[in-house]
Amino acid sequence: MPSLIHGSRSFSAWSGRTLVLGVTGAGDAAVVAAADLPRATAKHLAGVVPVLEVSTKVGDTTTLAAVPGVSADKVVLVGLGEGEGGSDPLRRAAGAAVRAAGKGSVALSLPHADEAGLAAIAEGAFSGAYAFTAHKSAAPTAEDREITVFSGLGRKDSPKDVIARAETVARNVAWARDLVNTAPNLLYPQSFTEQVQQVAKASSGKLTVEVLDDEALVAGGFGGIVGVGQGSSRPPRIVTLSYAPRSKKVPHVALVGKGITFDTGGVCIKPSAGMTTMKSDMAGAAAVAATVVAAAELGLPIAVTGYLCLAENMPGGNAQRPGDVVTMRNGTTVEIIDTDAEGRMVLADGMALAAEAGPDQIVDVATLTGACVVALGPKIFGVMGNDDALRTAITVASERADEASWPLPLPADLRSGLDSAVADIAHKGDRWGGALTAGLFLQEFAKDSSGEQIPWAHLDIAGPSFNEGAPWGHVPKGGTGVAVGTLLEHLTSLG
Ligand code: BES
Ligand code: MN
Ligand code: ZN
Repeated sequence: MPSLIHGSRSFSAWSGRTLVLGVTGAGDAAVVAAADLPRATAKHLAGVVPVLEVSTKVGDTTTLAAVPGVSADKVVLVGLGEGEGGSDPLRRAAGAAVRAAGKGSVALSLPHADEAGLAAIAEGAFSGAYAFTAHKSAAPTAEDREITVFSGLGRKDSPKDVIARAETVARNVAWARDLVNTAPNLLYPQSFTEQVQQVAKASSGKLTVEVLDDEALVAGGFGGIVGVGQGSSRPPRIVTLSYAPRSKKVPHVALVGKGITFDTGGVCIKPSAGMTTMKSDMAGAAAVAATVVAAAELGLPIAVTGYLCLAENMPGGNAQRPGDVVTMRNGTTVEIIDTDAEGRMVLADGMALAAEAGPDQIVDVATLTGACVVALGPKIFGVMGNDDALRTAITVASERADEASWPLPLPADLRSGLDSAVADIAHKGDRWGGALTAGLFLQEFAKDSSGEQIPWAHLDIAGPSFNEGAPWGHVPKGGTGVAVGTLLEHLTSLG
């Protein structure tokens, strides 16, 4: 793991491997955006930038060696845009610059006006240093890179605290990425559970874990997750991970994560092209676990309970069939239409369990539908819910976290698509609006024991949870850890 350090003295005297400076402005007017550049450095860069036609596009990098006046071995100039402002360009630029810097220590001196800007630089830099090497036999000894972030912010903005918080957030985002990237023969419900137990054990009492194993799930009437998990030789689990501050008079948020450690589709098997990335179908549960751990480490004044709905969707001899009817934890009977619509089944049981604890709100996070990726593309997650204020709060939090999201409706009209001839409800409607009918199905489980709706938001992260393309900005290839930032911003806003 890299470490983040607050740099307060002059960056020009910093004598590590790579110093990162920002460039801004349009075309020929590109300038290095750093106050207090030594005179020799300023003169040199003013000459070099136009000659090299240094790009100011956010995240573009240009590497220079032998820059007079700075002690670092090399300088990476990173584009900050034409002066858009806000934290998003800073986060992306910091990530791209650290990736371009390659090995060794790195220091960033990028202009920022406030704590949000500094946090974005620090989190982006840490994120850009992420690499998943767990399965490489010639593992490059896990690099303990030192990342220094220079800030001119005054004491009252406590830049040291901002950077410490950024490290906590980014370290847990990295954990979520690791969980997603781990090969699915090695990460399955029980091994996922054991990792969570280990992390909780190391938290010196801040976190508590309860595990419902397959027997307890059957005994407890969790027909949704039991049905999904029964085709696998590796049985399902629901893991409850809780954090509560000392004060009991705080809001209580339940987070429910889809944790399908591999989604073959079950007997409605996916074509192989649609299956290749399905180790990432537990990204919701990973995001929930990482968020609860980070909330505890940050000591947020909020009680948070994470419900990790862990199962492997396999077409084994005991797998469920289309036409099966299962009884969910809350007593609802569900007709199985398509065994590949498994996520909503495990989540619905998780939400019903969450509702029993009487939380103030429920937020579920899931790689739920390909339809959501069709609607919003691979970088934006969809936000649905039964409460306009909560849904808006999530989109606002996502903006602060520089994680793109967009609201989607839950049209009452589509609900009839879930009518079943044989059970209380079917779990799948028509093809059109597939992300929305999945949301409408889940809505049935956001109820307390008297049938009243509990404020609930649903994050469909099927697109942005796994980056199949090249790394960009602070986002690596593979697992991205998306939603951890949004959820932490949301929890922080409630505290
Ligand atoms: N895990 C998939 C959704 C998914 C698709 C996630 C692509 C990430 C990328 C989910 O379990 C699924 O198979 N959904 C089906 C639902 C359908 C059967 C109603 C889908 O989207 O096709
Ligand atoms: Mn599926
Ligand atoms: Zn799935």
